Amino acid sequence: MKEIHRYSFPTQIFFGAGARHLVAREMKARGVDRPIIITDATIAALPFCKEFQADLNKDGLMCGLHGGRPGNPCESDVTAGVESYREHGADSIIALGGGAAIDVAKAVAVMVDHEGTLFDYEDEREGARPILAEKIPVMVALPTTAGTGSEVGRSTVIAEDDTHFKRIIFSPAILPVAVFADPELTLGLPAAVTASTGMDALTHNVEARLAKGFQPFCDGLAMEGMRLAAASLRDCVRFANEKTGPTPEHIHARGLLLNASMMGSVAFQKGLGVTHSLAHSLSTVNDLHHGLANGIMISYAMEFNTQAGPEIEKIFTEMARVVRAPKESPAGFVDWLVQLKADVGMPTGLKSEGVKNEDLDELVKYAELDVCHSLNPREVTSEDFRKMYEAALAS
Ligand SMILES: NC(=O)c1ccc[n+]([C@@H]2O[C@H](COP(=O)([O-])OP(=O)(O)OC[C@H]3O[C@@H](n4cnc5c(N)ncnc54)[C@H](O)[C@@H]3O)[C@@H](O)[C@H]2O)c1
Repeated sequence: MKEIHRYSFPTQIFFGAGARHLVAREMKARGVDRPIIITDATIAALPFCKEFQADLNKDGLMCGLHGGRPGNPCESDVTAGVESYREHGADSIIALGGGAAIDVAKAVAVMVDHEGTLFDYEDEREGARPILAEKIPVMVALPTTAGTGSEVGRSTVIAEDDTHFKRIIFSPAILPVAVFADPELTLGLPAAVTASTGMDALTHNVEARLAKGFQPFCDGLAMEGMRLAAASLRDCVRFANEKTGPTPEHIHARGLLLNASMMGSVAFQKGLGVTHSLAHSLSTVNDLHHGLANGIMISYAMEFNTQAGPEIEKIFTEMARVVRAPKESPAGFVDWLVQLKADVGMPTGLKSEGVKNEDLDELVKYAELDVCHSLNPREVTSEDFRKMYEAALAS
């Protein structure tokens, strides 16, 4: 991981340990010098963030910093980011963080020069307004988790403040123009966050591979992304638990997982599935972290999906082979998921996460409303959602 590799798919990606040191050069080459780092307050307080900002200033930028509220972002978090952008007199954005901070940054990029409210630009909505590329400031991204892959995605997920219902704003214009995927930025991620974000990356790849539709580009990425996540997640969590610091092995494992995360994000342009609908609703109703919700629910959702017919059974068998599950069969893949969850310290079910039987009606309601399950390989009824939640609540 010592060398910095440059890929151009789906945007410019500089990948390797130390890639963050290329940011100032790339911003200046794009004619901007007054960026604002948009991150969350937890990251803003960490030494690596302060060092990063100081280095950028040393390299000739006048760099501001916005550390917003951590957690599932809402529309008001975007408004706060827009205010900071204006106060700093910024001409560009550096999105630094996990999916939450990067999503806020992408939404801020829309709202600094588009009228109305953010959700006017939700393209699923009737009468949605278009997002104009020429009105988006130069924006680059540096992921500090390996999970969502939002840095290489064309969407931002922002919740309504009152309902916490997550809405997806999609536009090719909000794909960052350059990504600096630096595994060193993820070395300090605590073991539990490493596990939940890594399970998210895995879920994206798995659901993309199973989603309905003919998109062999995405299928290929999903299979390799799955392989990389399977090959690195346990190691990343172990290194985080052992607090080994920046050993070459740790950096290597983090680098593989970072790639798996970006590949998952590109792959899920094909679509996602039932796990995401179950998870989005858990974020809406119980404010669960996205990766944690996916990581818990994926085994229940995949058990459901193994009954989707012979074609899907073949894909499950192929996936079991790619992740090196002990048994190359649909059931073997689900068993492998259950074991992986245990190995990385994920909760087996929802009981420990404060989810209650009384939440079931709301959970089912929002899961059904979620768009992701429309491309799931097996149709999901309201009764199916209920059964999967009940199974997860029982453990
Ligand atoms: N846009 C997309 O394509 C897309 C896809 C999936 C999920 N999402 C969204 O992404 C969000 C979840 O993102 P996430 O899973 O990366 O979690 P996150 O951004 O909420 O980060 C998790 C926690 O880890 C902390 N953290 C991040 N990097 C750290 C580091 N290097 N060291 C120490 N702490 C660190 C954060 O402060 C936060 O408390 C959700 O809002 C979800 O809806 C977006």
